[in-house]
Amino acid sequence: TRRGLFGLVGVGTAGLAVGAAAAVGTAAAVDAATAEGDGSGGVHPFYGEHQGGIVTPAQDRLHFAAFDVSSTLDRDGLVGLLQDWSAAAVLLTQGLEIGEGGAVGGSDYAPPSDTGEALGLPAAGLTLTFGFGPTLFTDADGVDRFGIADRRPEALAALPRFQGDALQPAWTGGDLAIQACADNPQVAVHAIRNLSRIAFGRASLRWSQLGFGRTSSTTRAQQTPRNLFGFKDGTANLKAEDTALVEEHVWTGSGDGPAWMTGGSYLVTRKIRMIIENWDRVQLQEQESLVGRTKGEGAPLSGGTEFTEPDFSATGATGEPLMPTASHVRLAHPDQNGGARMLRRGYNFVDGNDELGRLDAGLFFISYQRDPADFIAVQRSLAADGLNEYLRHVGSAVFAVPPGARPGGYVGSGLFA
Ligand code: HEM
Repeated sequence: TRRGLFGLVGVGTAGLAVGAAAAVGTAAAVDAATAEGDGSGGVHPFYGEHQGGIVTPAQDRLHFAAFDVSSTLDRDGLVGLLQDWSAAAVLLTQGLEIGEGGAVGGSDYAPPSDTGEALGLPAAGLTLTFGFGPTLFTDADGVDRFGIADRRPEALAALPRFQGDALQPAWTGGDLAIQACADNPQVAVHAIRNLSRIAFGRASLRWSQLGFGRTSSTTRAQQTPRNLFGFKDGTANLKAEDTALVEEHVWTGSGDGPAWMTGGSYLVTRKIRMIIENWDRVQLQEQESLVGRTKGEGAPLSGGTEFTEPDFSATGATGEPLMPTASHVRLAHPDQNGGARMLRRGYNFVDGNDELGRLDAGLFFISYQRDPADFIAVQRSLAADGLNEYLRHVGSAVFAVPPGARPGGYVGSGLFA
């Protein structure tokens, strides 16, 4: 249970606490989180070769936040912000309170250093994953605000426009990103709230998204969950156990670009609205044809059970392919996309309803890949996807996710070395 033993991080103390906080959250900390996320969640280490929240068993809840840095922030200020965020992230992920005195102690003359709503709650498997958007390197006016433009990986550029995109600026882009995943929604929200508060005057929220019911599994120990179309989602995902494939398709290698990104990854988010009411009027057989899998079992329409590989050459009585040419699974499969693969880690969302009384619901798609080009290849292929009639992509962002921090260091330090 959360306790205030480590009163290490003061808001705005620009890195002073980083070294001290290294005592907790090391790779030696027990990674006791349960794969199924029972709400108590366990504890994931903050420090390590890679950031958490990527191959970590997908937790049940999400709070994702994109930030814009303040126009008055300079290079030292940005470094200070990343140091403060890392120092706070060490404590948050270990289920500890932030700051001198935490939520109910401290000075009589200043607000408490922790907002308090996670008091009494466990770490709940919280991971915090930090990313840098293309606009951090060169802003909309082409200005290199932090002297890092020449360190931008070539792979990190605004995504191209895709057919059918209905992107809204309110859900798109951002200089910095934080993905908070936990098995308890209040723990994820508490983390983003406190990291936003720590950023006050240095970076402000551009957009954020709450998610529930993970729409993929990232380890074979997890059951495949379902998305809001009612289909199993995550069956053919890259899993933590596929170490060679993860190495090849998720982590940035040493020859891929600037050295500061080695061991990192690229994060793509797509806010995808589902036209749920129309979908719910579609016959079961048609739904299955659009996906390319059965609804109950999640087996490919070419036969077998959930984890049978689809057979794209299999045909039915009249010679039609059993895996329809416009089916999602066929078009997204690596065979159709030059071997492109990604680790999907999205969440369902329901943001109330719109003015027509329809659920404002969908899938907040998140993928991690070695190069955004892999996402781009698959998304282009999906232009022919029959599901598109029931989908609208309303938000989009891409971020470079640096490798994990070493004890005493901070996330992204290589960029400024
Ligand atoms: C597979 C649903 C968007 C890439 C699947 C599966 C479902 C599904 C049900 C089959 C189970 C599985 O293997 O996970 C959806 C829905 C989406 C969506 C409802 C939108 C709301 C996307 C997007 C991409 C994508 C935007 C990437 C650009 C993939 C890939 C597979 C997959 C790579 C695995 C294909 C394979 O190797 O068999 N999706 N998906 N999906 N989806 Fe999506």
